[in-house]
Amino acid sequence: MVIGIIGGTGVYEFAAMETSTRLVELRHDTAYGTVELLRGEREGHELCFLPRHGAGYAIPPHQVNYRANMMALHELGCTHVIATNAVGSLRLEMPPGDLLIPHDYLDFTKTRALTFFDRRGEGVVHTDQSAPYCPELRDALIAAGADIPVTVHPRGVYVCTEGPRFETPAEIAMFAQWGADVVGMTSVPEVALAGELKICYASICIITNYAAGITGQPLTEAEVVEMMSQRIDTLRALIVDVLGRIPA
Ligand code: HPA
Repeated sequence: MVIGIIGGTGVYEFAAMETSTRLVELRHDTAYGTVELLRGEREGHELCFLPRHGAGYAIPPHQVNYRANMMALHELGCTHVIATNAVGSLRLEMPPGDLLIPHDYLDFTKTRALTFFDRRGEGVVHTDQSAPYCPELRDALIAAGADIPVTVHPRGVYVCTEGPRFETPAEIAMFAQWGADVVGMTSVPEVALAGELKICYASICIITNYAAGITGQPLTEAEVVEMMSQRIDTLRALIVDVLGRIPA
C-alpha cells in the first residue's frame, strides 16, 4: 500500500520520513505537469510526501496545480492520501489550535481546473461526492486523534474560497448560516479529484485563526504561520500514528 501525504501551509517536509531507509527525491511527469515529491517508507507503508505549495511555499492556493499533484500520487500508486489544511474557524467553540477532520465541503472556488474528465470524446462523468472525505480514513484519524493532547473535532464542513485574499465578514456570516464550520483555500478541487481517481482521501484541518468578523480582529498571514509552527510536532505524531491504523 502506498500512502500519499500532502503538506499544506506550514508543513513543508515530513521529518518522520527521515527514518526511512530508502528516501528518494522524485520529479514525476504527468499529463498535467511535473511534480516534485519525496518517496520513502514508514510503519510498513510506502509514503509519498508532496508539499502542496511547492518547495519554499512558492505557489499560492489558486495557482496550485491540483490535477498534476493528484495524478502524480495516483500514478505512483497511492491508494490513500492524507492532506493537511490550515483553516479559519467560523465557530467560537472551535478555537485556534484545535484540529478538525472534515466530513463535507462547500465549493466557493472560481478559477480552478476541477476535473480530469473534461476531454471531448471521453463522455460525461459525474463523480459521487456523498462522502467526499473517506469515512475509513477519517475514522483512523479520529481514533489516532484521541491520543494527542489537542482537541480534534471529529466532523465539520469545510468551505473552500478562491483566495488569495481572506474572506469578508459578510461572506463568513453567510457561510456560517449555510452550515460551514471552517474556511480554507485548498481542499477543493483536491478532494474532488481524489474522488475521480478513487483515492481514499481525508484531511486534517489545523485551525489557525478565527475567520473574518468572528472576533472583530483583523486577520494576518503571520498568525496562520505561528499557529502552524506550534502544531507541527503534534501533526507529525498524528500522521505517524494513523499510518499504523489504516486498514489494508
Ligand atoms: N480563511 C481562508 N483560508 C485560511 C484561513 C482563513 O481565515 N486561515 C487559514 N487559511
